[in-house]
Amino acid sequence: MAQFEYTMGKDVDLRAEWEKTLDDPGLRSNGILRTMYAAMDLIYGKNRELEKFMVIELLARYPYWAWETGSYLRLSRQYTKTRFPDKVDSDLAWHHIEMGRRSQDNEQWHLFILDELMRQRGIKRKFIKHFLLPRLLAWSYYYLTRLMYRIKPELSFDMNARFESHAEHEYAKAVVDHPQWEEEKIDSSYFEFYPRMDTMADLFRRISLDERDHKHESWEEYERITGRAFTP
Ligand SMILES: [Fe+2]
Ligand SMILES: [Fe+2]
Repeated sequence: MAQFEYTMGKDVDLRAEWEKTLDDPGLRSNGILRTMYAAMDLIYGKNRELEKFMVIELLARYPYWAWETGSYLRLSRQYTKTRFPDKVDSDLAWHHIEMGRRSQDNEQWHLFILDELMRQRGIKRKFIKHFLLPRLLAWSYYYLTRLMYRIKPELSFDMNARFESHAEHEYAKAVVDHPQWEEEKIDSSYFEFYPRMDTMADLFRRISLDERDHKHESWEEYERITGRAFTP
């Protein structure tokens, strides 16, 4: 079974890790994710620009929220029975709640920072790009994950690992697409809560690594609850 090294909160060589991501083929997407990416390409274009990453971040929070809510509901069901709840089940719910909260917060900082950078650059918000499509995608993605988590939790961990792998690679490739980002200095009030990065390129490298950690966590969880090896 896979065991990964995590990078969050550690002083890592961002460039070396970025190159590892670029050399790695990434996980295969499933049909649902491919449909979502096609809709995003259609509305935001194929280029890797800030407003497209905003939607990725908006969506990224939902599986974590779905696990948190789903686990709390499971706890409610377990603790309202005429017999004592099974500790193994309760511990699993707690583990998913903790994992969901921690990763949800991390995605939240990505979202806040990117939004602030969009404001600083005077990017205009539009009805379809910034209201309609994000809401439609977020709603569908949330309820789909909730359903998967309720019926067969491993399906939602499998899908999330693939989504995070896509995000990891999109952030890394965006740095390749924008060589000028190496010199583009950035600042955000949210660096009070998130590791401070000096340039746009390093911010994208750091976020890409966070997404890799998320991918690994879902991958390990899939294997832990099924006892089967994950298929990349
Ligand atoms: Fe993210
Ligand atoms: Fe993520």
